[in-house]
Amino acid sequence: MTPMIVALDVSKHFGPLKALDGVSLEVARGEVVCIIGPSGSGKSTFLRCLNQLERIDGGAIWVNGELIGYRREGDRLHPLSDREIARQRLASGMVFQRFNLFGHMTVLQNIIEGPVTVLRRPRAEAIADAMALLEQVGLSDKRDSYPAELSGGQQQRIAIARALAMKPELLLFDEPTSALDPELVGDVLAVMRDLAKGGMTMIVVTHELGFAREVANRVVFMDNGRVVEQGPPGTLLSTPTHARTREFIAAVLP
Ligand SMILES: Nc1ncnc2c1ncn2[C@@H]1O[C@H](COP(=O)(O)OP(=O)(O)OP(=O)(O)O)[C@@H](O)[C@H]1O
Ligand SMILES: [Mg+2]
Repeated sequence: MTPMIVALDVSKHFGPLKALDGVSLEVARGEVVCIIGPSGSGKSTFLRCLNQLERIDGGAIWVNGELIGYRREGDRLHPLSDREIARQRLASGMVFQRFNLFGHMTVLQNIIEGPVTVLRRPRAEAIADAMALLEQVGLSDKRDSYPAELSGGQQQRIAIARALAMKPELLLFDEPTSALDPELVGDVLAVMRDLAKGGMTMIVVTHELGFAREVANRVVFMDNGRVVEQGPPGTLLSTPTHARTREFIAAVLP
């Protein structure tokens, strides 16, 4: 079966800085991959490249078998138009550390905004879907609340519902729990665990090694814009091969 993601020798520079330095990674359909690594190692940049929030300057990425950002004609690559890129970006939903909900809209409006304006779904259908998603994340009673009236953990669960409302083929999470008070982390991880069980393809940048150990099919350790090593969580987190990975895990584990 076609992998959901194939990243091949991806590089991304910011001026002289190599934020990504030849990253290759495959993610199968239904797989949950956790990416760990020190600050500045390129984790967010990699997710942003997968979702075309950044344009890569070397290598190639295929999402669900489709080359992203470019169209091949013969042996030439032509950059896609903004419109084509916007279409491709719908394949992946992104959940950020800081929720990024629309503050002037209620929970329900936040969730139906994309389906109604971007996907042109009938409003009644979008609302029915949104109510099912609110149920799924355990927040049916909050449909008419504004984001500022919710806890961080509730806002993050709404952000997940909003991403799911676009019916993405995969979800990218960038440290979804690191802005939360410790007692709110569990509810968000529980929603993510359910999504994983339901077969959603997920790439999760996280420092929650317990979650990685329990839910991930594979853990990837990045440092300096490179994938240093990867493997099943039991192996990578308990008996990493590289000294750099060992040091990082020792520093993160409580
Ligand atoms: N828009 C940008 N302009 C310039 N440099 C950038 C930009 N975005 C990221 N960088 C740099 O690229 C490198 C990788 O950053 P990135 O945000 O991907 O790291 P990270 O692994 O997500 O770190 P953290 O754990 O702190 O979130 C860093 O050195 C960062 O300063
Ligand atoms: Mg980051």
